[in-house]
Amino acid sequence: MNVLSLFDGISCGMVALERTGIPVERYVAYEIDKYAIKVSKKNYPQIEHCGDVTTADFTKYYGFDLLVGGSPCQSLSIVRSKARQHLQGKSKLFFEFVRALHESKPRYFLFENVASMNEESKNIINKELNCKPLLIDSADFSAQNRLRLYWTNIPVNMCYKKNADVLKDILQSDVDEKYYYSKAFDFLGIDKKVCALLKNIKVYIYIISQITILRNSKFKK
Ligand SMILES: C[S@@+](CC[C@H](N)C(=O)[O-])C[C@H]1O[C@@H](n2cnc3c(N)ncnc32)[C@H](O)[C@@H]1O
Repeated sequence: MNVLSLFDGISCGMVALERTGIPVERYVAYEIDKYAIKVSKKNYPQIEHCGDVTTADFTKYYGFDLLVGGSPCQSLSIVRSKARQHLQGKSKLFFEFVRALHESKPRYFLFENVASMNEESKNIINKELNCKPLLIDSADFSAQNRLRLYWTNIPVNMCYKKNADVLKDILQSDVDEKYYYSKAFDFLGIDKKVCALLKNIKVYIYIISQITILRNSKFKK
């Protein structure tokens, strides 16, 4: 496959293709975060990194097999509910995905974003991508509650086997102390779906959703 990945992050698109056993001939990535690019380059030195989507000429990738991307969700997400600018804010980068779709005309596309966006934004994306989204919770496959919408023209069979991973199944156990989580939290039990609650904040944060903080940390009671 030849793959064009926008907003590539740490190249999870490549991880997914690898795990699915789909051979990748070329994987072209557009990403601007230097740390994400560093991770991607370490794991996959063969990936071609091209930087900013806004200056890209996507006609170069005409006939690629797959266009994949999850554009920034900051102004779509309910997390910023008061100041949400929807598809006019940072999340307007979605329209770069639409441009890439028209310029490169891939055989398949897959676009992902937050399920908490408003109906108007969802309808605009439906119209631009000419399909309706699938709603999938990553908790069905991993130790993280993460409701997301997926727009695709890939024929999808939604019968899948859910797994029951909890945080302890994915935490590393032997890591340097500098990666310990240092803020105060109430420990509820490592086998619990929600295994800790942060202290001193008004909103309870379900630690199960905070994999990025805890991925490399140990629990200290
Ligand atoms: C929601 S994240 C996508 C994460 C990715 N799916 C992954 O698996 O790691 C959006 C990404 O878009 C990147 N981004 C923001 N502006 C960009 C731009 N102008 N060009 C390319 N990437 C950009 C951000 O740095 C961020 O990594």
